Amino acid sequence: MKNLFEYNLVKALKSYHLKLFKLGHFLILLLSVTGSLAFTTTVSKTYKESLQSIAKEKGLFYGAALDDYIFQDKELQTAILKDIGAITPENGCKWDIIRANKDFNFSHCDRLLDFARSHDLIFRGHTLVWHVANPDWLNKEINPSNADRLLQEHINKVMSRYRGKVHSWDVVNEIVAPEDGRPDGLRKNIWLQNLGGDYIEKAFIYAKKADPNAILVYNEILIENDSKEARAKRQATLQLLKKLKAKKVPIDALGIQAHLWNNDTFNEIGTFIDEVGKLGFSVYITELDVSDTYIQGDLATRDKEVAKLYSDFLNKIINYSAIKGIVTWGWSDKYSWMNRHEIPGITREDKQPLRPHPVDDRFLKKPAWQAIADALQQRN
Ligand code: XIL
Repeated sequence: MKNLFEYNLVKALKSYHLKLFKLGHFLILLLSVTGSLAFTTTVSKTYKESLQSIAKEKGLFYGAALDDYIFQDKELQTAILKDIGAITPENGCKWDIIRANKDFNFSHCDRLLDFARSHDLIFRGHTLVWHVANPDWLNKEINPSNADRLLQEHINKVMSRYRGKVHSWDVVNEIVAPEDGRPDGLRKNIWLQNLGGDYIEKAFIYAKKADPNAILVYNEILIENDSKEARAKRQATLQLLKKLKAKKVPIDALGIQAHLWNNDTFNEIGTFIDEVGKLGFSVYITELDVSDTYIQGDLATRDKEVAKLYSDFLNKIINYSAIKGIVTWGWSDKYSWMNRHEIPGITREDKQPLRPHPVDDRFLKKPAWQAIADALQQRN
């Protein structure tokens, strides 16, 4: 396990196995090689490069969402630092962590940001406005007369603290939900209920003031597949982006989360990215992963199917010039957010751990890693 990313089968065979070469050993060798080929961690082609170096050559960056667990695992740190160029704090900068007790506690967010900076990694701030992860006190206290102050105070304090150190902020997250029944397609979250639809432009205006150089992003979930729900979201999102642009709201980019599922197809997302790009916005893939909740078969079959989903999606989007970076929501299956606790609708029926990420629980590349590498290579 010396150097996980430059593992070279031929070299290993020459330097070790061939020394022991006898007929008996040959059989064992043959079995072990075919066994490992059948297993999930061996990929057909190997790049010497990391996902970040391939991305960088194409003018993009590759990153992963990480959390406090990285500080307990040196082996993970060594392995991951060879592969990534960016970090999104998975939870450490959300309201329920920074504002758990109303006062500001920046310890988790600081630590992740310091880690990123000390390793020259891009840091993507996540997130300032969301309908999830709001502390109880906020849900109880917010009302139409204090909502604007609460919004401004939070955005201002958090973003000012990190001014100049954050590449891009997911200012608003998952704010469109046509199923909520409003003609404008906006989600009925606490901010909308207390401030009206204008809370979105307010959030971006406060964000711009707090950190004028950060890229300001609207990040959206389940917007990438061909389902009628996702199509409705794309329509509402385009309508919103056009409106914000017409009002000169300081928003720079759209984040497409891309939490993918096994029956998803992606025939419509390209046209959408093109339209968003033509409006003048950049596009980031912000939370890419593939849930294998409903994928049957042995581990190799599951990994292959997961990799196929990565390819299907990335091949459809990789050549749009609006795309500027790709972040996976986690990097190793060992620390997957999908496995940390039981999540209805995500946990597998057979209770086996999910395998949604580019590397496995030993930090070895899976076919998913290869699929991402191949897709990045294809960018013109
Ligand atoms: C998830 C985290 O990964 C979990 O650890 C946490 O319990 C819930 O939130 N969309 C987002 C992310 O924007 O912040 C979510 O992250 C996943 C879906």
